[in-house]
Amino acid sequence: MPKHLVVVIGAGVIGLSCAVLLQEAGYAVTIVARDFPGPFETTDPTAKINFTSPWGGAHNRWVPPHPSLPSHLERDHRFSLRTYARMKQLHDAQPGTAGITFLKGIEYLERPGPEYLALSPSGIPASSSSSSSADPLPGLPGFRLLSPSEFPADGRVTWGCEYDTWCVNPMVYCSFLLRRFVRRGGRLLARELQRPEEVFSLSRAELGLPPLPARGGESNSSSSSSSNSRGNDGESVVAAVVNASGTGLVPDPHMTMTRGQTCLVAEDCDATVTRQNADGSWTFCVPRGFDGGTIVGGTKEPGNWDPRPSAEVRAELLRRFAETYPKILGGKAELTVLRDIVGRRPTRDGGPRVEGEVIPGAGFVMHAYGLGGRGYELSWGVAEAVVEAVDKHVQKKEAGARL
Ligand SMILES: Cc1cc2nc3c(=O)[nH]c(=O)nc-3n(C[C@H](O)[C@H](O)[C@H](O)COP(=O)(O)OP(=O)(O)OC[C@H]3O[C@@H](n4cnc5c(N)ncnc54)[C@H](O)[C@@H]3O)c2cc1C
Ligand SMILES: *[C@@H]1O[C@H](CO)[C@@H](O)[C@H](O)[C@H]1NC(C)=O
Ligand SMILES: *[C@@H]1O[C@H](CO)[C@@H](O)[C@H](O)[C@H]1NC(C)=O
Repeated sequence: MPKHLVVVIGAGVIGLSCAVLLQEAGYAVTIVARDFPGPFETTDPTAKINFTSPWGGAHNRWVPPHPSLPSHLERDHRFSLRTYARMKQLHDAQPGTAGITFLKGIEYLERPGPEYLALSPSGIPASSSSSSSADPLPGLPGFRLLSPSEFPADGRVTWGCEYDTWCVNPMVYCSFLLRRFVRRGGRLLARELQRPEEVFSLSRAELGLPPLPARGGESNSSSSSSSNSRGNDGESVVAAVVNASGTGLVPDPHMTMTRGQTCLVAEDCDATVTRQNADGSWTFCVPRGFDGGTIVGGTKEPGNWDPRPSAEVRAELLRRFAETYPKILGGKAELTVLRDIVGRRPTRDGGPRVEGEVIPGAGFVMHAYGLGGRGYELSWGVAEAVVEAVDKHVQKKEAGARL
């Protein structure tokens, strides 16, 4: 039986993770995208500003769900736990190539919210409204509360913890996923789509499919069915489309963009450190590993479309981080700046959209976008949910066809 074809729109971390997992589940997969991962060092900051994946840190920072917070955070926490498990497997199987580093994550909070204060000694979040059920949340690996003697010297931090976590070098990691996908038979089409429905009418050649065998033994059929992706019965051969377009295509009114300015420095760091300041600002570092230096950040500015980095912001970010975690300086007076970074986090009110939709006259679309500042840390959890929904849709259609 021929494999079902799934088209994934997008080759950021979300599209790539979905493509790799769909392939493992037995689907033939074509990725259609405007941007593909390439070396970070040659990625153009202005031309590629709407492609978010190169500009991420990227680390996993646990965000504990709590009854007082939006309920999607519990789903998202489960996604991050699933992602952690898969990152561990990938890292252990390919320690030198996947672009993943396991290390300690350190959190410092000046004014901790109830979700932090309610964590159990092993990092089990307070059960949220929907989780009183069968599947309780587990603790966090390597979790430990810090004692005040371990807080930064300025005296403003009032709560801290550490745990085991991972960081990726984003373009090393995404390029690894892309190579794995292609080596296992995945197809790529570099194309900017104007309308979502377009994908259902791409030609078989564009999707990387062989031409349809001619009907009735004629070898020279010129029927239109051989040029577009509709089968002999006129139905699209695309079983499902995964919409991992980040912010792309026709605007979703729930989407916003959260600007982030960070700075890449040459120094390494032994941990990924995040400090939440009382004024709502953030001070953090994310070591990229693989000779990629360390990201020091960073801002979160909803609706600011300025693509240019600010020199004053950079100076402030570096100063604050060096004060919080002087260890990164290794005794030197200042950090070695390699590059400023500005990125746009594809943020969605109500949380990431991970749900299926049947578009009349077109077909089944599984949405996986709006990951905001958490695309890497939720990636495998999202991809698992995507495979599950595509399986369900395909099985339902097959059951329908047999009636
Ligand atoms: C400064 C900063 C720091 C961050 N730090 C972290 C972190 O530490 N941890 C973490 O988990 N996340 C972090 N993030 C967030 C993370 O980078 C994003 O959530 C993630 O990259 C989003 O991935 P994506 O695949 O959804 O979107 P993208 O990477 O933007 O990919 C979208 C894909 O869709 C394609 N596309 C879009 N429109 C079209 C179209 N019309 N036609 C064809 N193709 C199209 C694009 O070409 C691209 O291939 C950070 C982000 C920033 C900016
Ligand atoms: C990025 O997206 C915005 C909003 O859709 C658009 O106005 C801008 O032209 C895009 N930039 C690039 C470099 O494509
Ligand atoms: C995919 O998501 C974008 C939002 O990022 C939306 O505008 C677009 O219509 C969606 N595409 C499809 C095929 O539904």
